[in-house]
Amino acid sequence: MGTVTAPSSIGAETATKILRDRQPQSATLVIFGAGGDLTKRLVVPALDHLVQARKLPDRFAIIGVDHNDQTTEQWCQSLAEMIQTVAPASRIDAPTWSWLTHRMHYMPADFTQAGTFTHLEGLLAKQREQNGIANVLFYLAVGEHFFGPIVEQLGHAGLTQQSKGAWRRVIIEKPFGHDLSSAKTLNAQILRVLSEDQIYRIDHFLGKETVQNILVLRFANGIFEPLWNRDHIDHVQITAAETIGVEGRGRFYERTGALRDMVPNHLFQLLAMIGMEPPISFDADAVRTKKTELLQAIHPISPENAIRGQYGGGVMLEQKVQGYRHEPNVAPDFATETYEALKLGIDNWRWAGVPFYLRTGKRLSARTTEIAIQFRQAPYALFRDTPVERLPANILMLRIQPEEGMSVSFSAKRPGSEIEIDGVAMDFAYRDYFEPVATVGYETLIYDCLIGDATLFQRADTVEVTWRAVQGLIDSWAREPAADFPNYAAGSAGPAVADRLLARDGRAWMAIRTDHPHKALRP
Ligand code: BG6
Repeated sequence: MGTVTAPSSIGAETATKILRDRQPQSATLVIFGAGGDLTKRLVVPALDHLVQARKLPDRFAIIGVDHNDQTTEQWCQSLAEMIQTVAPASRIDAPTWSWLTHRMHYMPADFTQAGTFTHLEGLLAKQREQNGIANVLFYLAVGEHFFGPIVEQLGHAGLTQQSKGAWRRVIIEKPFGHDLSSAKTLNAQILRVLSEDQIYRIDHFLGKETVQNILVLRFANGIFEPLWNRDHIDHVQITAAETIGVEGRGRFYERTGALRDMVPNHLFQLLAMIGMEPPISFDADAVRTKKTELLQAIHPISPENAIRGQYGGGVMLEQKVQGYRHEPNVAPDFATETYEALKLGIDNWRWAGVPFYLRTGKRLSARTTEIAIQFRQAPYALFRDTPVERLPANILMLRIQPEEGMSVSFSAKRPGSEIEIDGVAMDFAYRDYFEPVATVGYETLIYDCLIGDATLFQRADTVEVTWRAVQGLIDSWAREPAADFPNYAAGSAGPAVADRLLARDGRAWMAIRTDHPHKALRP
């Protein structure tokens, strides 16, 4: 994590450093899955941005490992082409790109063969001897079935052994297991080779500025925390709505579904940031311990508190789109969910009795990730004839993406001779205060691995706790496949039945924002 600047409009001139800002030491980054989508779309563009921000050490090398038989030049060329296609905004800057490509080496290899790791050891030894680079960061940008075997092979080859001035770290991508038992098995397998402080389990939501800002909002301001509890908060809604479908990932999604894909990782990270107790410091373990404690306090989720859905055909942006079952590599009768809504309770002193409603889905009417914190109604209406329940509620809306920012809604008197109360909002948009920074969301994550700051990464116990919280629901849904799929049209706000989850508590979902952010404040 980096630094925070106060907006120039309120007169602060210097950034307030809230965390250590260390320059990374020299290192070799070894990317397994160098020819894959993740490397091309996110990892290399993030490195490019880090070079532009002068955040990489001069003595830096990249070794790309993958099955494809190609030369280093061909690899670099394919990366450049992909960056131009997927991120034209971050157009390649010639000096930056040449800085990177001079440090790149491609190694065609099979991840499952011991010989690959002996060869890799030779390349790393060369970096040590010729360039004095002894630290190594291994990035596993590969399918989940390779995580365990690659770590074991690294161990057998002695590549995970650390010594003074030579650290070894491993970044593991998502998904970390597909249920509690597979997550435990994977943890056990990699922890036989690595110590916990060498492992960086990624959840890319934690790379988002607005997600990191939740801690700053809560703990660097005096006005929110005193209200942040069951005495003042009525409920919390967390929404991650997507317009995309399964995007050619049908095979992966068939096995995964929206619950596994989004809830124990991304949505629970947002939940933890909102619900955790203040850590005693911003030290990685202090923060992660508090997050884990919060996640441990989630009540077991009963099927009555969970709604699932699957999109059928519909219209998105005036274009007809087909239903999930007609997507490539999806079985026409498969009951995989592409949407779910959950009501969660948190068993602790701060949150007892405050429901957290979570929902996520594909092919919804708008792309938006946001957290709405709705405060309790004023206890007493100012005017005798106004029933309290008709006053608009105060809502703190954190807009994670897009339109990053936040707003607070409150009541105001409408101008005029009558006393009429209306809901209005104060709005903060990132773009109004800060220079836009080119980012793919992985810059901070990679930088943090290089400086050894694991705050934004999942610890073994956190991952297991999150799977434990959803395991009962996974089992129950597997026992009883949904009979009513598809149950929402592409381009809609999700299944109508999801409204009941809140309606039975006398509440309603925030509208999924389609235009101006303030719209979302009105249930
Ligand atoms: C990924 C999921 O982890 O997160 C995808 O596998 C999902 O299905 C994506 O689309 C959402 O991330 P973002 O950053 O686009 O909101």
